[in-house]
Amino acid sequence: MLIRTKKRWQINEREATPEGAYLNRRQIMAGGAALAGAGLTAGPGQAQQMALETGPDGGLILNAARNEKYVLDRPMTPEAINTTYNNFYEYGSHKQISAAAERELIPRPWEVTIDGLVDNPITMDVDELINKMGVEERLYRLRCVEAWSMTVPWIGFAMSKLVDLAQPQNDARFIRMETFSDGSMASGVGSQPWYPWPYVEGVTVEEARNELAFMVVGAYGKIVPNQMGAPIRLHMPWKFGFKAIKSIVRFSFVSERPIGFWEEIQAKEYGFWANVNPKFDHPRWTQATERVLHTDERVPTLLYNGYGEEVAGLYADKEKLGRVLYM
Ligand code: MTE
Repeated sequence: MLIRTKKRWQINEREATPEGAYLNRRQIMAGGAALAGAGLTAGPGQAQQMALETGPDGGLILNAARNEKYVLDRPMTPEAINTTYNNFYEYGSHKQISAAAERELIPRPWEVTIDGLVDNPITMDVDELINKMGVEERLYRLRCVEAWSMTVPWIGFAMSKLVDLAQPQNDARFIRMETFSDGSMASGVGSQPWYPWPYVEGVTVEEARNELAFMVVGAYGKIVPNQMGAPIRLHMPWKFGFKAIKSIVRFSFVSERPIGFWEEIQAKEYGFWANVNPKFDHPRWTQATERVLHTDERVPTLLYNGYGEEVAGLYADKEKLGRVLYM
């Protein structure tokens, strides 16, 4: 059960991870009670639970070492744009949902469930999960199916770590992810009953193990704001943004291909694979180019959004699917 105690922040310092990712003393590991309940304590000489520090603009600071492997080919989208131009239909079918999301979504305490065809099913407090996984910063592009794009300094952990934690069984081929379904935290759910809530997305276990697949818990040096999918969302930079499901409560390992929110609404326009490819247009607009959000510049769209080197191998045996692989 979710107990709504908004903004009761505490942190738990963690040790450095092998990749050098770390959380420092100022960083969030919220939900002190949950951490204590799980028996997690800091090591000798470390602070156990500390008050979370608020940045100058009110955001809660979450520092993480940058993984220098992931570089951008264009300037970073300013935070003020990224936090005020969002798709989060639970708060309305337009881009100006940030105030409603900030007001209504209560991102902590928050439980995440991993279930289905796994040897290690778990329900865990999100901060306990984050603590276990460790965090790093990665600069990634985001290409929306609507033909706009941005660049974001995400903070989070490799999705492969979550797969390892779950220990999928041999017949687990897909991961079905689900957003919260508590309509009292999202006015757009009740006011738009025609949508197939909750928001659902799915990927293959193989895709989730790809090095680029990233579970996001922060951005711009802070915990991820509500409108961007607090407290935990997905980002797979080679796929259209609608795959990047926000505010996840459940990861179910399944044998059958899940049907996503948008696929259920309009399968001819929004498919399962949703890999970015400039050659396959959306039925109602071109995908050959994209509008860079903060410059308004129109630039060519790249195959797999420029991440082909890392991901093309995932689809070598699926090219025969043609358009389906890219919608
Ligand atoms: N997740 C949920 N739960 N609800 C949504 O409406 N929109 C998707 C995705 N994740 C959406 C969602 C779409 S269409 C996009 S482009 C990205 O979130 C946008 O992420 P951003 O607002 O952080 O840019």
